[in-house]
Amino acid sequence: MTNNLLDEKYWTTRYLNYSTAWDAGEVTLPIKQYLDQLINKEIKILVPGAGNGHEVIYAFENGFKNTHILDISLLPLGLFEKACPEFPKEQIHHQDFFEHTGQYDLILEQTFFCSLPPTIREEYVKKMKELLKPSGKLVGVLFGVDFKKEGPPFGGELEEYRQLFSNEFEIVKLETCYNSIPPRMGTELFFSLRKNQ
Ligand SMILES: C[S@@+](CC[C@H](N)C(=O)[O-])C[C@H]1O[C@@H](n2cnc3c(N)ncnc32)[C@H](O)[C@@H]1O
Repeated sequence: MTNNLLDEKYWTTRYLNYSTAWDAGEVTLPIKQYLDQLINKEIKILVPGAGNGHEVIYAFENGFKNTHILDISLLPLGLFEKACPEFPKEQIHHQDFFEHTGQYDLILEQTFFCSLPPTIREEYVKKMKELLKPSGKLVGVLFGVDFKKEGPPFGGELEEYRQLFSNEFEIVKLETCYNSIPPRMGTELFFSLRKNQ
């Protein structure tokens, strides 16, 4: 990642200080309900910036055995391994997202985008596209509000996201999230993007 003070040390310190208000403690409803309606469980899924990996555990325990977890900080990945000991080690990536290589059918976004400095949002879009197979999808939630203070979390607005993603992706859905968890209700957008060939 280029020019970023929000590095591994920053995030590990947040975990060490229990300064992790982003952690919902379980899979969030938008991701759960999205996964619940998928029929093909053979798909290869990546959850970047997954932290303790509640979404990954839910996917894995519900039959999506080819799910991969990635985080720049080792600390939450260690907790994840303890919480889900049967999860294959080779599907755990302790790595900067921007250095990851692979090809996925589906990438799930859950409070990772908002943790990155807005200056690297275009880099995020390009990297997501690179990591997806042809017709692969990037799906999840984004904050749809401007927090009016320095992040993380860094917010944004729907039109801004439409412009950001529309060059590289077909926007299948980008709308107010109706099933956010209670503390985030009214602040989130649900989105589903398909990679442009
Ligand atoms: C706001 S937290 C969200 C964690 C998790 N998605 C959740 O909802 O609990 C952001 C996560 O992204 C990770 N992260 C930040 N920058 C990263 C990067 N460049 N590559 C991989 N992970 C990163 C952090 O270590 C942290 O676990």
